[in-house]
Amino acid sequence: MPITPQRLIQYKQQGRAIVALTAWDYIIAQLLDTAGVDLILVGDSMAVVLGYETTLPISLDEMLYHAKSVRRGVKNAVTVVDLPFLSYQESVQQAMQSAGRVLKETGCQAVKLEGGYPAMVETIARLVQAGIPVMGHVGLTPQSVHQLGLRQQGKTETEGERILQEAIALEQAGVFSIVLEHIPAQLALEITNKLSIPTIGIGAGVNCDGQVLVTSDVLGLSAKQPPFAKVYTDLRAEITQAVDKYSQEVRDRLFPD
Ligand code: KIV
Repeated sequence: MPITPQRLIQYKQQGRAIVALTAWDYIIAQLLDTAGVDLILVGDSMAVVLGYETTLPISLDEMLYHAKSVRRGVKNAVTVVDLPFLSYQESVQQAMQSAGRVLKETGCQAVKLEGGYPAMVETIARLVQAGIPVMGHVGLTPQSVHQLGLRQQGKTETEGERILQEAIALEQAGVFSIVLEHIPAQLALEITNKLSIPTIGIGAGVNCDGQVLVTSDVLGLSAKQPPFAKVYTDLRAEITQAVDKYSQEVRDRLFPD
């Protein structure tokens, strides 16, 4: 049975940890889905896989193109698509149009958008009323890189309280889950205990209801990773080795053999 956003809320109630990773194409999505990942995010961090410096330049059309490819590779996981920078912040109407395109054109089940109270609360409530499942994202929000930088958020009591209140407001607006990015583990625990929807942490300690990482970091494909990422294999080295071997065999006329 394909996993639904509703099922992820049940996982929290059952104390079952949620596994999430990002994907940018069919092959990666199929591998993650077959491995049993619960939630696949077509994150705008894909901008970096596409050679951009930050997440800001990626367009809605680029997100849609990749999301369609990811969706074709997924049978079971919930697929969530990031609304990119300035495809939803202008007005509720703009957000509705962008999120509507994601659901209609890609077949993915949900959208994620960054930011909390008060900016995103009305927008999220309206999307949810229209039947669009929404995932929230608070703490470090990379689309605000020129305001916040990439530093840990919520370190002071005031900042922590603001992030907690944002998370509560997003739950009330109807999100089915919230990403907590790069905040202290103690704050993430407090938010996780306060909410009845699952928190998915990235650089937010072990006590969230689930964890997400950027797959190109996990696989060692990214040139550099954030401090909270864990590299599980070094595909950059493996690919380089394979390409060197192939090149050598072609030049030595050993391939095809
Ligand atoms: O774009 C992305 O990959 C994300 C994750 C960091 C949660 O938003």
